[in-house]
Amino acid sequence: MRVQVCIIGGGPSGLLLSHILHRAGIETIVLERQTRDYVLSRIRAGVLEQGTVETLREHGLGDRMDREGFPHGGTYVAARNRGFRVGFEALTGKRVMVYGQTEVTSDLYAARDAAGGAVVHEAEHVAIHDAGGTPHVTYRKDGAEHRVDCDWIAGCDGFHGISRKTIPKDVLRTVERVYPFGWLGVLSRTKPADDELIYANHARGFALASMRNERLSRYYIQAPVDDPLDKWTDEAFWDELRRRLPSDVAEALETGPSIEKSIAPLRSFVAEPMRWNRLFLVGDAAHIVPPTGAKGLNLAVSDARYLSEALIAHYGGDDAGIDGYSDRALARVWKATRFSWWFTTLMHRFPEDGTFGARMKEAEIDYLEGSEAAQTVMAENYVGLPF
Ligand code: APR
Ligand code: PHB
Repeated sequence: MRVQVCIIGGGPSGLLLSHILHRAGIETIVLERQTRDYVLSRIRAGVLEQGTVETLREHGLGDRMDREGFPHGGTYVAARNRGFRVGFEALTGKRVMVYGQTEVTSDLYAARDAAGGAVVHEAEHVAIHDAGGTPHVTYRKDGAEHRVDCDWIAGCDGFHGISRKTIPKDVLRTVERVYPFGWLGVLSRTKPADDELIYANHARGFALASMRNERLSRYYIQAPVDDPLDKWTDEAFWDELRRRLPSDVAEALETGPSIEKSIAPLRSFVAEPMRWNRLFLVGDAAHIVPPTGAKGLNLAVSDARYLSEALIAHYGGDDAGIDGYSDRALARVWKATRFSWWFTTLMHRFPEDGTFGARMKEAEIDYLEGSEAAQTVMAENYVGLPF
């Protein structure tokens, strides 16, 4: 078969790109290695920047989000058993939306289905050919070999995908920082700890109280990434979380059985450039941020937005967007990488911190509490920098 844009990966980046291009009359196919159920069972962050919310609305994807999501005008930051609020709305005029990535992905699948979009699941051995010339992609499905000829390939296949690896080593530069801890996450059918998120710095390590809705809470604690999960019984998790949250919050905390529990590593990673000839990288295929501040999905959306604009202009006869895609996307990626790194560094305890490092973090959080200028810097990054 032949399409204009062959999209590898059916996560948020690939689905959103396909959806926006379809609405502009550009033909795509999405090749996804996993089943749809598998993709929708992955639990990821749940905070959408204002620009992400607007992008979803602009493209007809906002109805359920607007009904079921929760706009938040601020967040709490805590340290040394005290919390204070950073009011995004008062400082920037913008809010964020609490709405899980799983829900965004599910809405994207519904939109692709409604439009009759081609999404192939369980596509095996996806391979990119001749991205420097006449591109095509091959894959296996149900034992048969398939070939897709195309003008462009969008690598939306996440950090472990094949697209980035197709770019020659002498072209691609990668930068990486692996953090010396992970996040142990728990989802539970309990009332959230507060009306907004709480990010807590504590001598025993970071804790985050987040939520999905009035009866579904999401909590994380900093933990050794190689801790066996069975060490973390529900009781051990709740005990440790309570120790790290301010005591008034801890005392009122509703606990219950975990319905999901996992440990995830934290990493900052950027690959440049994000285009090589007829291949583009989009979302996690090109960059990973640590989850503190929830930038991962928001970056996937901004990449998909930039690339869709570039491709739409290209089919209208203007290649400036294609040529500028990598620089434009990376300018935003690096700023979100910086913010996620700053927020991660500030809120976590690192083995090398020592007393001096710990005091510096506490002093910075104290400064944040007292300085509108410092809070504005945090708020404008948290709600999302402009496109
Ligand atoms: N062939 C086909 N599909 C693949 C391949 C492959 N070789 N390798 C990976 N995939 C699929 C994965 O199964 C996954 O569904 O590509 C998809 C990539 O999706 P994500 O990892 O969700 O990446 P992206 O769409 O860029 O979204 C970024 O996801 O990981 C979070 O925090 C991140 O929120 C951010 C968002
Ligand atoms: C989440 O709810 O999963 C979440 C929220 C905020 C973050 C990270 C994760 O910064």
